[in-house]
Amino acid sequence: MILYSKEVMKLGISLFELLSEALGLDSNHLNDIECAEGLAFISHYYPPCPEPELTMGISNHSDNDFLTVLLQDHIGGLQVLHDNQWYDVPPVPGALVVNIGDLLQLISNDKFKSVEHRVLANHVGPRISVACFFSTSFQPSSRLYGPIKELLSEDNPPIYRETTVHEYVSYLATHGIDSPLQRFRL
Ligand code: OGA
Ligand code: NI
Repeated sequence: MILYSKEVMKLGISLFELLSEALGLDSNHLNDIECAEGLAFISHYYPPCPEPELTMGISNHSDNDFLTVLLQDHIGGLQVLHDNQWYDVPPVPGALVVNIGDLLQLISNDKFKSVEHRVLANHVGPRISVACFFSTSFQPSSRLYGPIKELLSEDNPPIYRETTVHEYVSYLATHGIDSPLQRFRL
């Protein structure tokens, strides 16, 4: 895990450079504002389920971080919501899944969208996955995050108010996982 987390951190820093450039910003921008300063792991174990139609592996949600790097095994079950329809994300050996999180949607002023996803329960298993969340929610940081000023103009006014990572994550913890991003809209 220690070795893997070091590699995921390197990957995350590169991804934040590419995402900064995609936004038309200096390539260090997202790293400079500490998007890659914190990394949390959640390792999931989904036991085989005798009646998968009655339950879910994980119900639908978007991730409350900047970016998620997900390693899934060969079992499958991950789905993303696109145009009101659920699509399978089939496991590809050696591939990682990268999700935009809510906080990246917020600071990009909706240029990047945090994808809704879920995991179906399955007869076969267990299924194991490792989700690595780029978020500073476990570190005390009073840094405020709002739509990045360089992206804003008269035609593109800020959609969200500023918040700290801690405030955003606490909101989610007390109000449940139902689309907290909407609560930060101006
Ligand atoms: C998550 C998540 C998916 C998976 O932990 O937020 O969406 O495949 N995990 O376990
Ligand atoms: Ni998730």
